[in-house]
Amino acid sequence: MTSVQAKLSPNAVKEIQSICQSFGNDKGELINILHKSQDFCGYLPPDVQEVIAEELDIPVSTVYGVVTFYSLFVMEPRGKHHISICTGTACFVKGAMDVMDEFKLLLGIDLGETTPDGKFSMDSLRCIGACGLAPVVMVGEKIYGRVTPDDVINILDDYKDDK
Ligand code: FES
Repeated sequence: MTSVQAKLSPNAVKEIQSICQSFGNDKGELINILHKSQDFCGYLPPDVQEVIAEELDIPVSTVYGVVTFYSLFVMEPRGKHHISICTGTACFVKGAMDVMDEFKLLLGIDLGETTPDGKFSMDSLRCIGACGLAPVVMVGEKIYGRVTPDDVINILDDYKDDK
């Protein structure tokens, strides 16, 4: 257990502990604690889960179960630009999977992965309430609507010069 925690800096461990304490180390607040911890760390790797489990006095498997159940929690660091492809019904019907395949092809990554240069990561999500624009892709907070596979290269181009 300590060897796992050793990967986190002492400050990071302290911060996660203080997040847990701010919720009274209440296991009923696990989701809120995970949210705050992800905001702080950017993602929820096993060593972060260990600290939370220890602090709340619950099995790591419980924390892991929640992290893997909710798609908004991630265990891998995301790229600088996170691409979310909507696969809700409207987007699916309008060709979201073809758009996704084009992103996969051009970036050389699968869903849940990050490019080796750390620039892009990619995931799917459910309906974001913009069905009139289907199929919809988000890059960070920016929304692209009525995306076709041919548009994908231009979308990526928007981030080309970004360091
Ligand atoms: S299904 Fe994609 S925005 Fe609604």
